[in-house]
Amino acid sequence: ARLVVLVSGSGTNLQALLDAVDADPEGFGARVVAVGADRDGIAGLERAERAGLPTFVCKVKDHRTREEWDHALTEATAAYDPDLVVSAGFMKIVGKEFLARFGGRIVNTHPALLPSFPGAHGVRDALAYGAKITGCTVHFVDDGVDTGPIIAQGAVEVTEEDTPDGAAALHERIKEVERRLLVDVVRRLAWHGYRIEGRKVHVGE
Ligand code: GRF
Repeated sequence: ARLVVLVSGSGTNLQALLDAVDADPEGFGARVVAVGADRDGIAGLERAERAGLPTFVCKVKDHRTREEWDHALTEATAAYDPDLVVSAGFMKIVGKEFLARFGGRIVNTHPALLPSFPGAHGVRDALAYGAKITGCTVHFVDDGVDTGPIIAQGAVEVTEEDTPDGAAALHERIKEVERRLLVDVVRRLAWHGYRIEGRKVHVGE
């Protein structure tokens, strides 16, 4: 399967996918063919360049309207003919055109146990709420924010050491689980195929 990965930051989820492909090119069943971002100067793009991958950047502020940005992102992604688009820390909500083109084939990873704590601050919100267990969710993207059908989740305990201003440390612990979860999900979807029935994801049946 051909993967296009979208990033906005450090790209450690992207790196986990790249490492999984390197470790077992045949067995992984998928390979990253390009990496896209919504901004320049991020480690995620450096990781892609180090891996010799083509990259593209679509900045909202370079377009007159959000729809034009969505169109540019759609075209840039479509140029690599992906079987699966992986949003790995991509911090923009894709629009109607992107969803029309790739809907049902866009996987997102979120650092909280959806439907709890959706949005851009899931780790901080779980901590502030006093959750005892949080974690990460890999799901298909639909037209909502972090609302698509869930594929897999991983739990992470919030401990006494996780002080209210300690979201970054908790997020790093979540990311350790998240990277493994994402690699496993992409491998299974690529190898076994899947179908989505309402909110239920059937892998390999
Ligand atoms: C991940 O935890 C992702 O769920 C969240 O931001 C983080 C991105 O990390 N949206 P990285 O860029 O993959 O290192």
